[in-house]
Amino acid sequence: MTPAQPHRLLLATNNRHKLAEIRDILAPHGIEVLGLADAGLRIEVVEDAPSFEGNAAKKALETATAAGIPALADDSGLEVAALNGEPGVRSARYAGEPTDDKANTARLLRNLEGVSDRRARFVCVLALAAPGGRLLGTAAGEIPGTIIHEPRGAHGFGYDPVFVPDGFTETFAELPSATKNRLSHRANALKHAVESGLFSKLP
Ligand code: IMP
Repeated sequence: MTPAQPHRLLLATNNRHKLAEIRDILAPHGIEVLGLADAGLRIEVVEDAPSFEGNAAKKALETATAAGIPALADDSGLEVAALNGEPGVRSARYAGEPTDDKANTARLLRNLEGVSDRRARFVCVLALAAPGGRLLGTAAGEIPGTIIHEPRGAHGFGYDPVFVPDGFTETFAELPSATKNRLSHRANALKHAVESGLFSKLP
């Protein structure tokens, strides 16, 4: 599973939580993950594709081309069954711009008032691109759970305080980060990426 040569790639995100999670997960595979700040880059990709896959590919391609080294991008979000998959690709901006995790979570809880079906899932799509506009591939992962009525816990980010993964009683914001990083939609997408040999396509 571990590539023979250590690889280095840039993670196309300004989200330090995602960077820490992905760095931890890929380190045992001999893949060094740089953040945009480590590389001295400021890149804001407009996430206007209608799917997680489209946004992840767009972020990876634009970042790899701007930076001149391979880039991995993650597009992720929360899909709630009773809201027909909302907030979905709009998860980061559910309550408007700029992104505000507390406001997004408050809007979600308001929209679920009186709703007994609380099933939801986090979804993540990863895309890996090489400079020169070459998309090396994508991988997806998800984690099912339920949305509780009041936020609980201080770890993580986004909707973590209201999401209880199936098989647990704690929210993602109450569980230790090591546990979340083992279970999460991002962990599952990375596992699928490693298993499918995506990182061995790195130049
Ligand atoms: P992205 O940066 O466009 O992928 O937006 C992802 C948004 O989805 C975040 O701003 C969060 O609102 C939500 N999200 C994605 N992954 C997680 C997670 O692991 N925990 C909590 N919220 C998440």
